[in-house]
Amino acid sequence: MTPALEIMGLTAGYGEVPIVRDFSTRLAPGSITTLIGGNGAGKSTLLRAVYGTNRIFAGHIVFKGEEIERLAPWDRLARGIGFVPQGRCNFPLMSVGENLKMGGYSLAARGRRAAIERVTAMFPMLRRKWPVQAGNLSGGEQQILETAMVLLTSPSLLLLDEPSLGLSPKMQNEVFATVRAIAAAGVTVLIVEQNVHGALLVSDRAIVMELGRKFLEGPASAVRNDPRIREAYLGGNIKEVAAG
Ligand SMILES: Nc1ncnc2c1ncn2[C@@H]1O[C@H](COP(=O)(O)OP(=O)(O)OP(=O)(O)O)[C@@H](O)[C@H]1O
Ligand SMILES: [Mg+2]
Repeated sequence: MTPALEIMGLTAGYGEVPIVRDFSTRLAPGSITTLIGGNGAGKSTLLRAVYGTNRIFAGHIVFKGEEIERLAPWDRLARGIGFVPQGRCNFPLMSVGENLKMGGYSLAARGRRAAIERVTAMFPMLRRKWPVQAGNLSGGEQQILETAMVLLTSPSLLLLDEPSLGLSPKMQNEVFATVRAIAAAGVTVLIVEQNVHGALLVSDRAIVMELGRKFLEGPASAVRNDPRIREAYLGGNIKEVAAG
C-alpha cells in the first residue's frame, strides 16, 4: 500500500541547529500514530518540519507521491496537510462563527459554506456556541474549534500537537473520540500527546522519540506493553484498561 506520508532520513531544526535527526517513518492511510517523548525530544519540531515551518537540513518528506520538503506551508496545506499547533490558536476575541469563516478563508464562498456545514455537523457544539467569543469557550471546546478550523480545508493528513493538554479527563476523552472520528472519515492522523496512555488506546501505531531520534516504533498495543515505555511514560505498574 502507498503510505499516506513517508519521511526518509529527515534532519530538521532551527537556524543552524538540527534537532530531529535522521528520522524515517511511514504512515498508512487513515491510521492514527502517536508520537511520544519527553519534553524537548523534538516532537513539535518533527510536526513543524512536516508542515514546513522550520528548517530541513536533509532527507525527504513524500506526500501523495511527491517530495514536499521544499514547499511552503501554504502549498502543503493546499495539497492536504493540516496542522493544529501546540497551545491555543484561535482568535479569542472573535465569535465561533467568525473563527470558522477565518479557518476557511482560503476557500471560495460556496465551498466555505459547505465546509462549515460539514464540520459543524461533525461537532454540533460549534453550532450551539456559534455567537460565543472563542476565548470564552472551555479549553476542550477551543481545541475542537481549532481542529475544526483546520478540517475546513479537508486535509487528508492531520498533524495534532498536544490536543488534550490542560484538559479535564472527561474533555481529554472527548478529544480522543474526536481523533477517532476524524480517522474513521479516512484522514491520516499524526498526534503528539502528553496523555500517553489515552493516546495509545486510540492509536494504531506509536513512535517514541528521544533526543531528536526515533527510539522505538510499533503497533500502539506493543509499545504500550513495552516495559521501558511503561516505566518511562506510563508510571510503571498502570492498571490495564481494555482497549476499545
Ligand atoms: N523556534 C525554535 N528555535 C530554536 N530552538 C527551538 C525552537 N523551538 C524548539 N526549539 C528547541 O528544539 C528542541 C526540541 O523542541 P520541541 O518543541 O520539538 O520538543 P517537544 O518534544 O515538542 O517538547 P514538549 O513536549 O516540551 O512540547 C528543544 O531543545 C527546543 O529548545
Ligand atoms: Mg512540543
